[in-house]
Amino acid sequence: MCGIIGAVAEEQVTPLLLSGLRRLEYRGYDSAGIATLINGDIKRRRAEGKLTELDALIEDQPLGGRIGIGHTRWATHGVPNTVNAHPHSTSLVALVHNGIIENFLPLRAELESVGHSFKTETDTEVVLGLVHEYLRQGMSPQESTTEMLKRVEGAFALGIIFSGYDDLLIGARRGCPLVVGYGEGEMFLASDALALASFTDRICYLEEGDWVEVSRDGALIHENTGQLVERRVRVTSVTDVEIGKGNYQHFMLKEIYEQPAVIGDCLRSLFNPVERTVSLPDISIDFSKVRRLNIVGCGTSYYAGLVARYWFETIADLPVDIDVASEFRYRSIPSQDGVLGLFISQSGETADTLAALRFARERGQIILSVVNVPESSMARESDGVLHTLAGPEIGVASTKAFTTQLVTLAGLAIDVARARGVLGREKEAELVAALMEVPSRAAEVLNHDEALRTLAEEIYDVRDVLYIGRGTSYAIALEGALKLKEISYIHAEAYAAGELKHGPIALIDDGVPVIVIAPSDGLFDKTASNMQEVVTRGGRVILMSDSNGVSALGRDAFSTVVLPKVSAFVAPILYAIPVQLLAYHAAVLKGTDIDQPRNLAKSVTVE
Ligand code: G6P
Repeated sequence: MCGIIGAVAEEQVTPLLLSGLRRLEYRGYDSAGIATLINGDIKRRRAEGKLTELDALIEDQPLGGRIGIGHTRWATHGVPNTVNAHPHSTSLVALVHNGIIENFLPLRAELESVGHSFKTETDTEVVLGLVHEYLRQGMSPQESTTEMLKRVEGAFALGIIFSGYDDLLIGARRGCPLVVGYGEGEMFLASDALALASFTDRICYLEEGDWVEVSRDGALIHENTGQLVERRVRVTSVTDVEIGKGNYQHFMLKEIYEQPAVIGDCLRSLFNPVERTVSLPDISIDFSKVRRLNIVGCGTSYYAGLVARYWFETIADLPVDIDVASEFRYRSIPSQDGVLGLFISQSGETADTLAALRFARERGQIILSVVNVPESSMARESDGVLHTLAGPEIGVASTKAFTTQLVTLAGLAIDVARARGVLGREKEAELVAALMEVPSRAAEVLNHDEALRTLAEEIYDVRDVLYIGRGTSYAIALEGALKLKEISYIHAEAYAAGELKHGPIALIDDGVPVIVIAPSDGLFDKTASNMQEVVTRGGRVILMSDSNGVSALGRDAFSTVVLPKVSAFVAPILYAIPVQLLAYHAAVLKGTDIDQPRNLAKSVTVE
């Protein structure tokens, strides 16, 4: 999704802006641009497509200046072309915007009625128009910003520069994240701390409704009442090294390979390995009083929730509702007394999940979030937070964030079960022991990389792929199909294995590979029957199972992937890895843009 960078620099600002934009690329975008002040005048360079296009333009038409703003745009209102690319500008002001201005139609009509003309199809241009008109009426940049903020509705983060003001960069946030970076003699603004990793590690996260005046000397932060406020400047641990690709061809592959290590980090933060007990960081929520759990997330995070539903029901004996965030608000949720809302999100900023969280809070749920970005909005707005410790995830398709979400949710399920008095000491030790094995088992699974690459040759040029599974393996089938769709653009669907015969089986022929996720657990025999239904109709089955499952069924499969034999409890964590690798290799063979797939965004900050 869109990214913002702004800088008040000591020297040339353009290289800083371009470097910041490169760090925001991972969020997904379709055009980019920068604006600077040269002798007090606003100058812009914008280009459709990847940053290399903008680099080439600037190479051809260099841009000086010591203050500037930059943007990567993921189109919402208005097609992704150069005209609609940010920054937008008039002779008086230039700005970049993340999010959506919901009342842009009436504001546009109002501005047009006073003779303001529009050049783009974007909602952003009304913000520009308002600031421009206020400046024209003689207001200062600060007054114009304050007045504009009173008029706009929706979710946004903004970066604004003003002609004639070489030492003033204004930022504002409502619903979308924005941070201020404190450098040596230079100051920064960005939509996420990662963008600033090579400039500074001193970061201030603006709060909801804040706006800020940034100059070379520092930052003056105002809360939404206009009052000046002090916000904490933290030293962030996000460093340059952590977000390099290392020797890997893609961030996604690097992140897949990091899983044994980050799962280990996560386990260490949640369990006592010697006593084999769960020991969650302090969350001030009394789980013994929880009557029902309501899990909400989007995309991969939602699928982590689907796996966890089985765990909460079976281990903690807790009734669970689960919703995708974008639909949750359309449900009527009567009495929420004793209901724990569990919000799962890598970024902690996904607009639908954040809106669902606020809705749930209004309806009386206690809010617990599981996020990978500790300073995120969801973390700050929850009663309790669990951090997944996956480290920065750059590939748009989520991998290590998913498996660390699973480990964290497994820990939570055990903790809740204990608090509810439904889990004996012995059973707890058995579950914790199974989890402790996961890092080494995950490393074993990575040894299948080459075999999965060969297997990918069988699927990368087909039109459709089906994934089936039962129980937690159904959730992994869904995640596998999502991974393949996201990065290889192959149409993939997942079905609960038992549901196949109610329709999807009509799709089966020798051109449709069917990936069967079937560890030899209590549901294996039933999934095996569904697999046979596919085989007898000429379907090409790729069976992912353990040695027991493969010796029982392998001869009927077109191909097999033999995974470690582990307890059914932790199997979904391990089975996530081969479906990630299969999708990755299929995408490599197709030559797609793996880390930034078309049309997708890492953190979706619009509803
Ligand atoms: C986007 C990303 C997905 C992610 C989903 C939810 O669609 O491309 O990889 O699963 O958002 O994001 P979240 O940050 O809330 O987990």
